[in-house]
Amino acid sequence: MAQPASSPPEGAAADWTISQDWSAYTAAEHALWDRLFARQAALLPGRVAPQFLEGLDILRMDRPGIPDFGRLSERLMQRTGWQVVAVPGLVPDRLFFEHLANRRFVAGRFIRRPDQIDYLQEPDVFHDVFGHVPLLADPVFADYMQAYGQGGLRADALGAIDRLARLYWYTVEFGLVRDGGGLKLYGAGIVSSHAESLFALEDPSPNRIGFDLRRVMRTRYRIDDYQQTYFVIDSFDDLLRATVETDFAPLYAALEQRSDLDIDTVLPTDRIITRGTQAHARSRKEE
Ligand code: PHE
Ligand code: FE
Repeated sequence: MAQPASSPPEGAAADWTISQDWSAYTAAEHALWDRLFARQAALLPGRVAPQFLEGLDILRMDRPGIPDFGRLSERLMQRTGWQVVAVPGLVPDRLFFEHLANRRFVAGRFIRRPDQIDYLQEPDVFHDVFGHVPLLADPVFADYMQAYGQGGLRADALGAIDRLARLYWYTVEFGLVRDGGGLKLYGAGIVSSHAESLFALEDPSPNRIGFDLRRVMRTRYRIDDYQQTYFVIDSFDDLLRATVETDFAPLYAALEQRSDLDIDTVLPTDRIITRGTQAHARSRKEE
């Protein structure tokens, strides 16, 4: 996501973008992408929102090797007007929002090391491109991401970035969506992780709670382990409506008077889909 302001690193443009330098990837790096891709491609059908699979297809992301951002952007541009641009790592908040507001998705170009196949904290090209880009080919989700960027610029001016970041976390990164009687994955942090794809959908540990904007903005999150609570939207249309049609300024002001909620809190007012056992979080603590 983002970090506080500073000047661009050496070799980066003023907006922090760099060239992907696609030809510099080694055969081993392409092969690692292919391995990660094959594992998720086998796991996700039936578990992920259909728009994600459509995105992979439309963008021809099943071609072997790390995608070339230029060619990927051409397809994406035709479809929803989005582009993928390379950055050296986390970019300052304002720039991150500005890129999104202009339909540019910033992606890391490096790929994890083979020993990090299951877990890494910093987003790499597999997380950023496999995880995030397919849904940018969906017109509704594409609009949500742009609106989020515009909302970020506003939140920055209102000193409310932390609250808005929780919305990103619990939707764009770790969101679940209702699908008939069941649930499907759509958050990039989940779909780019083999283990969390299973955990988020099938494990009895986490809470799964119906999405509520105010509720989400009050809820802390963890970055070091699987989420203890996932929020479930009814559809991308619903998410877009709930966020675009609400003026967040009075919300931010009202939330100043409310306490933050812990990562595993369940409220009497929550629309509970699954009340988690939290067995996973407990077992991690005992380790
Ligand atoms: N409606 C929000 C605001 O008033 C902007 C926004 C839209 C934020 C969509 C996030 C997602 O700031
Ligand atoms: Fe991400």
